[in-house]
Amino acid sequence: MANVLLGVTGSVAAIHTPQLHGELRAAGHDVKIVVTKSSLYFFDAATIAPTAAGQRNKNVVILDEDEWPGSSYQRGDPVLHIELRRWADVLLIAPCDANTLAKLALGLTDNCLTCVYRAWDRTRRVILAPAMNTLMWQHPVTKRHLDQLTTDLGAALHVVLPISKKLACDDVGVGAMAERDAIIALLTAL
Ligand SMILES: Cc1cc2nc3c(=O)[nH]c(=O)nc-3n(C[C@H](O)[C@H](O)[C@H](O)COP(=O)(O)O)c2cc1C
Repeated sequence: MANVLLGVTGSVAAIHTPQLHGELRAAGHDVKIVVTKSSLYFFDAATIAPTAAGQRNKNVVILDEDEWPGSSYQRGDPVLHIELRRWADVLLIAPCDANTLAKLALGLTDNCLTCVYRAWDRTRRVILAPAMNTLMWQHPVTKRHLDQLTTDLGAALHVVLPISKKLACDDVGVGAMAERDAIIALLTAL
């Protein structure tokens, strides 16, 4: 069983986060979640392993603001994205939206999740579950970014391909995040 760092980005598929967290836990994994600001439009972080007071559990769901907890850095303060990378056996980004995919491919580091990825120990696995509109998925830049990540990570990279269905935007086609079962099955099989 693994320490799974679940990255969640701003796709409609982020609505699955509470269930995905529960199912990863049920499969025996220890899970921490790093969310982007956009992803919080789609689920309530306080519903996942909440504190006794019903608040967000900062040990489980990490926001960008947790990287910058005080008024200024004090020597010896932990650097959260490095602590998270040390803790994690596997980085699972589900859903991985087009914006974050592009940022990973380019090496941009403007939030906690992309900092974790950029500081990643590339002997450890990275699993991406892309989710986006069909035309975004089919756009040549998507393949370019995935090819770049394959070059960068080699055998450490695993992509759970999106599936075809009626999307939240009413388009029908490939782009929906893979079923949670398929994501967990891949993670457990590796
Ligand atoms: C209602 C709504 C749904 C969205 N769904 C998706 C999606 O499924 N895939 C995607 O790539 N972007 C989607 N977006 C756009 C992203 O949220 C946007 O690019 C955002 O900047 C992503 O930021 P992040 O990568 O930091 O989470 C959606 C935006 C909105 C408002």
